Amino acid sequence: MRRNVLITGASSGLGAEMARQLAARGHDVALAARRVERLGDLEKHIKTQHPDVRVSTYALDVNDHDQVFAVTKQVVVDFGGLDRFIVNAGLGKGARIGSGKFYANKETAETNFVAAIAQCEAAMEVFYEQNAGHLVVISSISAMRGMPSSMTTYAATKAGVAHLAEGIRSDLGRLTERGKKHDIAVTTIYPGYIRSEMNEKVEQDVRFMVDTETGVRSMIKAIEAEAAEAATPAWPWLPIGAVMRHAPLKVVRKLM
Ligand SMILES: NC(=O)c1ccc[n+]([C@@H]2O[C@H](COP(=O)([O-])OP(=O)(O)OC[C@H]3O[C@@H](n4cnc5c(N)ncnc54)[C@H](OP(=O)(O)O)[C@@H]3O)[C@@H](O)[C@H]2O)c1
Repeated sequence: MRRNVLITGASSGLGAEMARQLAARGHDVALAARRVERLGDLEKHIKTQHPDVRVSTYALDVNDHDQVFAVTKQVVVDFGGLDRFIVNAGLGKGARIGSGKFYANKETAETNFVAAIAQCEAAMEVFYEQNAGHLVVISSISAMRGMPSSMTTYAATKAGVAHLAEGIRSDLGRLTERGKKHDIAVTTIYPGYIRSEMNEKVEQDVRFMVDTETGVRSMIKAIEAEAAEAATPAWPWLPIGAVMRHAPLKVVRKLM
């Protein structure tokens, strides 16, 4: 069992629910985000529900890269190691390219991609040192193709993090080929529409939107299985994702 789990963006949505479900399965959880009061409430909730589980909270802005490394090191000290790092913190801000809102797109690119590099760096340093660990990267089904309008930059960042994870997996494959034994795994999760703060303003009847608990249950199943890649929930997103990869753009636009 990968006992100790660090989750970034644990103050709401998928991150908070992953913390609740992992704690229910007996994992110790390190919760990181900027809104520390939210993390405090979640810590209290988990401790009440699961008194045997260890929970700690960490103030973290993932765009402060030094802080990403410092928090990761602190978790290793506090928990006596780090077994799994879930790169989850993310932002859905964005505007059509050419609409004059460069700074919204830049903020999304920095939070979702540049900061993800910092998190992967911090995690992999620890995992190489331990020769064990599980890196989980939360991408999005929108990563399958270029997306229009306000989703363009967001989808590009999510394709970026998926490739980042695949590159790290390739490094590990090379180690294995050279006969170096290790227990390090990398999982990329491609969630479909799951209810969270990011999409709370979206109408209730969005096609295939599932509630947070259902969506995250599917994510946790794939994470615990240490699948290399998983679209979650698998139905309908596995077939939709496969179609998206190859369909003409006018079809892709209708699928998301
Ligand atoms: N919900 C979906 O349908 C869906 C689909 C595909 C992918 N995803 C991905 O799932 C992940 C979680 O999103 P969500 O849907 O749960 O949205 P959410 O409820 O808005 O949660 C986003 C989380 O990211 C954190 N965050 C944002 N900027 C941060 C920063 N600079 N430093 C540290 N933490 C930061 C937020 O915490 P603070 O504000 O407290 O810092 C919050 O906890 C994201 O990567 C998102 O792209 C979601």
